Order: sequence, then structure tokens, then C-alpha cells
Amino acid sequence: MAKIKVGVAGYGTIGQRLADGVAMQGDMELVGVADMMPTLSIQALNENGMIGANGVKYNLYLVEGADKAAFDKKRIPVAGTFEELVGKVDVMLDSAPAGVGAKNKEIYKKMGVKAIFQGGEKNSVADVFFHGYANYEKGVGQSYLKLTSCNTTGLIRSVDCLDRAFGIERVAITIIRRVADPGDYHRGLTNALQIDKAPSHQAVDLMTIMPHVDATGILVHTPVTHGHIITVVAKGKKKVTKEMALAEFQKHPRIRVVSIDEGFKGNASLFKYARDLGNRRGDMYEIGLWEDSIVETGDEIMYAINIPQESVTIPETIDAIRAATEMQTTREEGTAETNKYLGIGKFK
Ligand SMILES: NC(=O)c1ccc[n+]([C@@H]2O[C@H](COP(=O)([O-])OP(=O)(O)OC[C@H]3O[C@@H](n4cnc5c(N)ncnc54)[C@H](O)[C@@H]3O)[C@@H](O)[C@H]2O)c1
Repeated sequence: MAKIKVGVAGYGTIGQRLADGVAMQGDMELVGVADMMPTLSIQALNENGMIGANGVKYNLYLVEGADKAAFDKKRIPVAGTFEELVGKVDVMLDSAPAGVGAKNKEIYKKMGVKAIFQGGEKNSVADVFFHGYANYEKGVGQSYLKLTSCNTTGLIRSVDCLDRAFGIERVAITIIRRVADPGDYHRGLTNALQIDKAPSHQAVDLMTIMPHVDATGILVHTPVTHGHIITVVAKGKKKVTKEMALAEFQKHPRIRVVSIDEGFKGNASLFKYARDLGNRRGDMYEIGLWEDSIVETGDEIMYAINIPQESVTIPETIDAIRAATEMQTTREEGTAETNKYLGIGKFK
């Protein structure tokens, strides 16, 4: 079977990781990435001879309005225009700043190319609000898919894991949300927590993807950069004990069960561990789930997860390519291929 050709719009926090994720797939070809500015990420790529993950060359295309002279001045090679990139691919992964994807969609539509958008876009940009594990089949053969946000992606992994085993009726969550990515100076230098109005969008999004689960939650912005933490209280159709929940979490390829006793004290421990593993950019595709946070409260089960916000949506986005282009038509086959090429679950 010919390789599926993929392009990435916006080489920022998510885009550079999407490009890496595609470059690692044996059955996909990264045709190129598009951006507007010679950002530090693009300068670093250029310094590395435009070679990205797996030794793949990343060809750079410029979107309309980009200042080509600024790229020439830094001797960054440009392969062509955004429309030329779109004309060469089967699927575009759009990771431009939130809202820009809706504008880019006009180009994708005009050129008859499928596209997968990230969480910052409105749901109306896509035909399907997608999660690789919870509703893979809904994305099969569709043209426009939108991924859940980083928090929602990790949250749904864990709730879907319990739901498939026991049936979940209701969840209540607290999101301790990192306020910025590393290097985001535009977010300011802060020393305060901030609460959003309830229910948080992650709870609402969970109900859109899993309509049979009643969800609500509160979100607290925290002045840190290395991962969100979510606590979840879940009510099953029958009582779910700690042992039952743990056994299911341990089976899930994209959930890494860790413990405080072995040294995982919080978000920074997981970030450092990913760097010690030598993972590219210090990324971790799995969510961390603390074994010693799982606790029964009456009929309900409670636990805490860690969300590596920069990399957690990459596997589910690759699943979306597989669903949209019908490379695999079931969640089991689609997610298994993504996991194989990204090396997910090796630690199990
Ligand atoms: N950062 C996260 O933790 C995170 C997690 C999950 C989802 N998301 C979502 O992913 C999307 C991208 O977010 P990000 O954090 O990677 O943003 P970012 O600001 O890090 O990167 C955006 C990139 O797009 C480029 N760009 C600007 N205008 C463009 C255009 N017209 N066409 C193409 N590229 C353009 C910018 O130069 C930049 O390199 C958003 O929808 C966001 O909500 C972000």
C-alpha cells in the first residue's frame, strides 16, 4: 500500500511534535511543514540541516503573508508555498494558532484535501470531534476531524478505559492546569492561581465524545509549565474497587502507572523521567497515573493523572489520520499501528 502523504500547518509546540510523529510512522510520508515566521523552532531545525525525527528531511513551505526575505536572511531553505504543500498531500494536520485553522480550512476545501484540527479550534470546524480510543469508528472515512484538547485527551483515555471494562455513569474532575508551555514569555511571569467558571470545557467535551457519561468539573490555572494534573471521581454502573481499576489502567498502552514511592512526586518527575529516557524533546506520549492516588470513596473511585500537554495529543492525531484515510477501520487496529510506530507501551 502506498504511504499516506501528510503535511503540517504551523511548526509550533504541537506542530513540531506532529511532524516528528508522522516521520516515525512507517506507513506515512511527511511531505512538509508550513509556517509564517522564522521562529526559534525553525531556526533550530535549520541548524540541524532541516533533519527531524527518524532522520527525515522536513521541507518548509510558507503561508500567505509570510516574509520570505526574513527566511532568506537566515538562510533557511524554503520549498514552496502553502498551497503547493496542500496540493501534494492526502491529509493536512493543522496546528496553527487557535482560530487560524478555520481560515486554512477554506484552502483544504478548495483543494479537496482532508484535514485534522487541534483543540483550540471551534468544534464547528470539523465533522467529527475525535478521540482515538473513545470514538475511532466515527472518524472513519470523514474529511474533517478535530482532536480533543490535551487535558481532555488524557482524561478520556482513563475514563474510556474504565468505561469499557465496567461502564461509567458519572465523573467529576478537578483540573490543575499548567498555564503556559516552556518558553512562553507572552504568558507573563506569574505567581497566582486562577479559577475558571464551572463546568470546565474538558467535562463538557467528554460528554460530547462519551454522551452516556454525565460529567462536570472545575479548572484551576497554575503558574507552572511541566504538565497538568487532573483528579477524577468516577461512578461505575457497579462498584469499581481499587484493584479492578488498577488492573485496567495497567493494561492500557497509553497509560503509564507510576507511584510516589518509586519517586514520581508530581508533574516535574514525569517531565524529568521523559528527558532521562532520552525521548525527543523530553516528550511523553503516555499519561502518568499514580497508583497510590487511586482510592475508593463510597461507591465511587478516585484517581489522579498527569498530562504532558505538549505531546499527549500526538498519538490520537495519528489515529485520526488512520481513521480519516481508512488505513485501519477499527480502533483496535488503528491505535495498535500508531502505538507500534511511536514505541508506545514498550515499558509495559
Ligand atoms: N500547547 C499545548 O499544550 C497544546 C496542547 C494541545 C492542543 N493545542 C492546540 O494546538 C494548536 C496549536 O497550538 P500551539 O501551542 O502549538 O501553538 P504555537 O503558538 O506554539 O504554534 C503555532 C505555530 O503556527 C505558526 N503560524 C502562525 N500563523 C500561521 C498560519 N496562518 N498558518 C500556519 N501557521 C501559522 C506560528 O508561527 C507558530 O509556529 C491550538 O489549537 C492549540 O489549542 C495546544
